[in-house]
Amino acid sequence: MINVAVVGMGWWGKTVVNLIQKSSKLRVVAGMNLNAKLDEDFAREHGFHMVSDYAEVLADSRVEAVILCTPHSLHKDQIIAAARANKHVFCEKPLAMTRDDVEQALEVINAHHLQIAVGHERRFEPPIQELMRRLKSGLLGVPLHIEANFSQDKFLTLPLDNWRLSAKEAPGGPLTATGIHILDLSISVFGEAEKLWCSVKQLGSQLVNGDTLSAMVQFKQGGHALLTAILATPFDGRFAVYGTKGWIEVRDKAHPGTPEGWTLTQVLSGGEKTRIEYEPCSSVLVNLEAFADAIDQRAPYPVPQTQMIANIAAMEAMIRSAATGEIVSL
Ligand SMILES: NC(=O)c1ccc[n+]([C@@H]2O[C@H](COP(=O)([O-])OP(=O)(O)OC[C@H]3O[C@@H](n4cnc5c(N)ncnc54)[C@H](O)[C@@H]3O)[C@@H](O)[C@H]2O)c1
Repeated sequence: MINVAVVGMGWWGKTVVNLIQKSSKLRVVAGMNLNAKLDEDFAREHGFHMVSDYAEVLADSRVEAVILCTPHSLHKDQIIAAARANKHVFCEKPLAMTRDDVEQALEVINAHHLQIAVGHERRFEPPIQELMRRLKSGLLGVPLHIEANFSQDKFLTLPLDNWRLSAKEAPGGPLTATGIHILDLSISVFGEAEKLWCSVKQLGSQLVNGDTLSAMVQFKQGGHALLTAILATPFDGRFAVYGTKGWIEVRDKAHPGTPEGWTLTQVLSGGEKTRIEYEPCSSVLVNLEAFADAIDQRAPYPVPQTQMIANIAAMEAMIRSAATGEIVSL
């Protein structure tokens, strides 16, 4: 059992606490928010106490790992402070805002021989894992191209001064919210991006930071990804890989917040279209437990640090491209 502190007790921090209640590998022993009083009842119901000071979390000798569910611009410094206090880190996406920042954070983690994990739970969804297995087995031939979409309209009801809508915390409109998940999946297929073009527009909402993102990414090892993330249309989620021998699409049946499972569709050259239906599964908990397994040395954490860096480097390039209108080389 790994004793963890959940830092940031908003929407996602509480989601994580509720999921960990079902885990035999992790236990929440502390929670942190800027105003601890707000969540004292929630913490009591879930068997831990709240504090208002990150330093107090880091000084708590029971805490072996922190789970960072805080605004994006805080992640880098919070990772580094945790590592200096000898705590393992599970950090929500994005790990940091720039390539330099993620490299600095990982350097401190590695210098202290600690584990780091990132909240890219889409990698742990059973149909995505099946897609990756089939791709690695050569079933689809040479991978050529990705088309992916992660859109939703949940942010339309947020107050306009919410941090998630600010240019500082969420540059690139939908990028840090949903786009980064499909960017991460694309990197798990093709590795580092070589150059990209990204456009973010405010087309259909009051979200001045932009509600519609479209990006074209070219990867160093070959292959392209066409990525779409919209914040002003109802939920859609799909990830499709096209290869020389066939293609597979994984489509969400509903928003991950109210999951209904997935459909995996496959077409191989000369063959019929086949489908597999998947029941919902908490990939967020699977990811958290993979982190626990890495700390306990049962299995290495499956997301390589090179891909954590590649993801943030591509995110940074997308933000630059969206701001300048230029194609950005990495
Ligand atoms: N993996 C996913 O699918 C997923 C889904 C939702 C959110 N997230 C991520 O979770 C993180 C939090 O998002 P959210 O939607 O829960 O936001 P939120 O606004 O609901 O919660 C953020 C929390 O952080 C707290 N906070 C602010 N400054 C702090 C500080 N200096 N120290 C400690 N706590 C501080 C706030 O009080 C708040 O409780 C973000 O990184 C977001 O991208 C990931």
